[in-house]
Amino acid sequence: MSNKMWGGRFTERPDAIMEEINVSIDVDRHLYAQDIAASKAHAAMLAAQGIITANDAKNIGKGLDTILSEIAKGSFDFKRALEDIHMNVESRLGELIGPASGRLHTARSRNDQVATDFRLYVRDVIDQTDAALAAFQYALVERALEHAGTVMPGFTHLQTAQPVTFGHHLLAYVEMAGRDRGRFADARKRLNESPLGAAALAGTSFPIDRHATAKALGFDRPMANSLDAVSDRDFVLETLSAAAIASVHLSRFAEEIVIWTSPLVGLVRLSDKFTSGSSIMPQKRNPDAAELVRAKTGRVIGALTALLIVMKGLPLAYQKDMQEDKQGAMEAFSALSLAIRAMTGMVLDLVPDQARMKLAAGEGYATATDLADWLVRTLKMPFRDAHHVTGRIVAEASKAGIALHELSLQAMQAVEPRITRDALAVLSVESSVKSRTSFGGTAPKNVLAQAKAWLKRLEKERKLG
Ligand code: ARG
Repeated sequence: MSNKMWGGRFTERPDAIMEEINVSIDVDRHLYAQDIAASKAHAAMLAAQGIITANDAKNIGKGLDTILSEIAKGSFDFKRALEDIHMNVESRLGELIGPASGRLHTARSRNDQVATDFRLYVRDVIDQTDAALAAFQYALVERALEHAGTVMPGFTHLQTAQPVTFGHHLLAYVEMAGRDRGRFADARKRLNESPLGAAALAGTSFPIDRHATAKALGFDRPMANSLDAVSDRDFVLETLSAAAIASVHLSRFAEEIVIWTSPLVGLVRLSDKFTSGSSIMPQKRNPDAAELVRAKTGRVIGALTALLIVMKGLPLAYQKDMQEDKQGAMEAFSALSLAIRAMTGMVLDLVPDQARMKLAAGEGYATATDLADWLVRTLKMPFRDAHHVTGRIVAEASKAGIALHELSLQAMQAVEPRITRDALAVLSVESSVKSRTSFGGTAPKNVLAQAKAWLKRLEKERKLG
């Protein structure tokens, strides 16, 4: 038997290989709720416009509700021979309500249908991702409040650079997640237009009301150009781009956790909840969750790259290539969701070793800049000269194998006679961080203020949402 949805001029069944390459139900079955919502909006509009009868529309609506609950319950029989979610739903509708089901597809095509469904799906993904990122920020802010004054080494080139506070470090990720949320919100704005009613590519001769279906589905407006409506996948690409950047942020943080928890570094400890042991080495506590967050980034970036490549050679309007937009994207979105949740869990779980952090913060002459700044401020030296003098003092300490604050005043005065006892005070890691009060700097009081401001913002958002 040929396909009853489009098989009028077909007399033969598709080859098994044709069916295998063409079928998309394993992937687009995940669009069932969106597909049914869009069909309900379409049927109601057709009736309101007098294109189908109110009675047919009512039966279609009821039938679709039945199908929705069958799929949700898991009792729906998905048929591969019916190719995709649209034809599976429509075929079942025929079983449930008879010939009226055939009127649902008036003035639409699977091309505008799938574009509508996937927009609705990606919109849901964006909303869920935003909520997950907000929870991640919340966890970071909580820990930042707790550790606003905890001193740790700050690094550049992974070399000890200057002391910073742990809270400050955590708040850097709050900022990054904030920009990620901004990118998702921005993608959502442009995504939120309805392709429904563009039909196959050219629009339709029926007096449909695309504004009504757009409104019913929560879109801001119908898309203005029917060719664009069925062939655009920017909304997936933009959301995947936002997802890729967010994943890169999480991956960088995951990498830091891997470094911090290494016994060679030992700045942070994760509990049994987020680590695993080794089957052969009893002493091991491996940061598997962080490593997997780092690795899952590959899937997200891969999905973005793959879809860019699918799209890059496609002429207008719909091409079947575009059916390949869903699987990678769906996998990428769920990888990102898991990664955000795993990082949130680790943020709440991790325990910094504050003594070790403080010790490490002072290693590698990390307060040398503070001494140079003292020379500038107190002796009015040009910074370049102060840098040079401090470099010679660091060399003395290094030669003696001691820390800067362990060097005697006399030894410093041998390099620069105007140095007084006052200078020694700036060499501690605490006074170093305390002095970094410039806007956005690491001083505990800055960090506390920033963390509180974020907390307020997040709480306000939570109330509104
Ligand atoms: N399964 C298709 C997709 O995901 C639906 C649209 C099919 N359209 C068509 N003209 N064959 O893109």
